[in-house]
Amino acid sequence: MAKRGVFPANSSHTFFTLLSLLSFICFARTTGESRGAAFVRRLDPNKLGLGKEKLSHFRFYWHDIVSGPNPSAVVVVQPPTNASTAFGMVRMIDNPMTERPELSSKLIGKAQGFYASAAQQEVGLIMAMNFAFLQGKYNGSTITVLGRNPVFSKVREMPVIGGSGLFRFARGYVQVRTHNFDLNTGDAIVEYTAYVFHY
Ligand SMILES: *[C@@H]1O[C@H](CO)[C@@H](O)[C@H](O)[C@H]1NC(C)=O
Ligand SMILES: *[C@@H]1O[C@H](CO)[C@@H](O)[C@H](O)[C@H]1NC(C)=O
Repeated sequence: MAKRGVFPANSSHTFFTLLSLLSFICFARTTGESRGAAFVRRLDPNKLGLGKEKLSHFRFYWHDIVSGPNPSAVVVVQPPTNASTAFGMVRMIDNPMTERPELSSKLIGKAQGFYASAAQQEVGLIMAMNFAFLQGKYNGSTITVLGRNPVFSKVREMPVIGGSGLFRFARGYVQVRTHNFDLNTGDAIVEYTAYVFHY
């Protein structure tokens, strides 16, 4: 009969196999890190000109123009059922963003993207859009919003998930409030306030 140690022969064998596997993995990781993978490397944020993170606050008005000869929001997918919530409908937008509620006030950019009716029991949208700014130093920079918009709630909140140009690494949120909804035309003016961290 074989002499028994603290562990039965089989489990001590397994233990040493595990141990050598672990040390191999550690060795592989260490050498991998010191050599560095060819496609990725560490960067000093200062080398990208990333200084201190800033918090910016924006306020503007977003015009959803669905009526008239020049709509800024057009249906690209009709709802497949007659559900009162228009579940399944998709609308593409190039909506003016202005400084004040009047469409004639200063144009600060365009909200470009789409929204789709994503709820069956209420009018609830999923919105995906870029705020393409046009003014001053922000001209050409964008902020990207992706979120849920239950349009009949007083305040809706959607995440800012990124940005470009001056808004690289952006994150934050927008809060939106309907300023005016024209029942006859379906046109809406919505107040947007945004809180955005960026560099
Ligand atoms: C929607 O309602 C209209 C008119 O009541 C009807 O003709 C049509 O077939 C309905 N469509 C669907 C997808 O149920
Ligand atoms: C914004 O940038 C575009 C493209 O570079 C340029 O044509 C336009 O004049 C700029 N607008 C303002 C207000 O600076």
